[in-house]
Amino acid sequence: MGKVKNHQLVLTRGEDVWVWDEDGNRYLDATASLWYANVGHGRSSIRDAVAGQMERLEAYSTFGDFANPPALELARRLSGLSPIPDARVFLTSGGGDSIDTAAKLARRYWHEKGHDERHHLIARVHGYHGTHGFGTSVAGIPPNRAGFGSLVEDVSIVGYDDAEELRTEIERVGAERVAAFFLEPVVGAGGVYPPPEGYVEAVAEICRETGVLLIVDAVICAFGRLGTWFGIERWPSVVPDMITFAKGVTSGYLPLGGVVVSDEIAAPFWDDPEAPPLRHGATYAGHASCCAAAIENIRILEDEGLLTRGSELEAELFDQMKRAAGLTATAEVRGGLGFLAALEISADILERDPGAPVRLASLMRDEGVLARPLGRGVAVSPPLTAQTKHLEMIGDALVSSVEKLA
Ligand SMILES: Cc1ncc(COP(=O)(O)O)c(C=O)c1O
Repeated sequence: MGKVKNHQLVLTRGEDVWVWDEDGNRYLDATASLWYANVGHGRSSIRDAVAGQMERLEAYSTFGDFANPPALELARRLSGLSPIPDARVFLTSGGGDSIDTAAKLARRYWHEKGHDERHHLIARVHGYHGTHGFGTSVAGIPPNRAGFGSLVEDVSIVGYDDAEELRTEIERVGAERVAAFFLEPVVGAGGVYPPPEGYVEAVAEICRETGVLLIVDAVICAFGRLGTWFGIERWPSVVPDMITFAKGVTSGYLPLGGVVVSDEIAAPFWDDPEAPPLRHGATYAGHASCCAAAIENIRILEDEGLLTRGSELEAELFDQMKRAAGLTATAEVRGGLGFLAALEISADILERDPGAPVRLASLMRDEGVLARPLGRGVAVSPPLTAQTKHLEMIGDALVSSVEKLA
């Protein structure tokens, strides 16, 4: 915060893949803001859908038996689009809410099944699951956990690329004590790490064999980022128990998130009319205007053929990023699975200058391209409306900025 005091980049306007600052400078939004502007900026039809809903009923609680038409329609829509058969949808206000909801649902599910001891949670190195209580506790990025005092207990973090490590950890803890495993299909904020071949299928199988619930965190990967609705469809044999989503569900026009929950996990709370209420839910869950934004956003993704662009353009984006692969300041370029990629800066530069990722992003900004600095490099994840000329612009800015950094 101290570093940016008095020199913020104040953005005032957006249109498709472009944003403008208060001085009128135009930038290519190569990150879709924070991995969410999937349909691009300035969509008047989303504005109109929200305005129309606000004229009728801006918002009303969905606690107890309260509901509203956009929340019901969105839940039905998402259930139908999800790879989980007969899924229920628990709506939240964002990704962190969704992670905490999924973690609590997993633990409560086992409690309802008479397995109170089954509450251990496992996640992966590099994983990012937001900044709420559970999400901070299962963070695979150590600095994100540091300095907050006691976090949620009974959590472990395993390597991001070795399924056998998950099996060993489940055996160490005892399967009868493990509630759930969190999986980002492609790790996003932790540095863009696509999973090794066979990894996702292998961990899904280990979860199935041990009874551990598989929670797919699709907050970044869903709504077209991997070319499908929830990202995990890229591994067709894998059916999760829950999927957390946010970001691309509204393309960020209004805040919204949720958890897609399997029939089996929902049953203890859903099937028995005498079941006690699930004491979890947030004020703005099922917010009518946010749900209206999501419904229109989903229509755009579908009708404009944007959904599949995440996979159609993944190789092209990766190729542009790989133009910087041989440069001395580059350690590695990662991507190729979904419309997101990252460049990691060489270890000796990072050692000399831990601020190098921010400097690299800033050099790219000088060339009119907004990239996102991460721990060891920069990431890009453009809106799904980006075209070849925009991807070339990313490649050009990256190459010259990495050269300057060296
Ligand atoms: C995979 C993943 N999960 C959860 C979150 C948290 O979402 P939010 O920032 O909306 O709370 C994020 C945010 O970047 C994310 O990338």
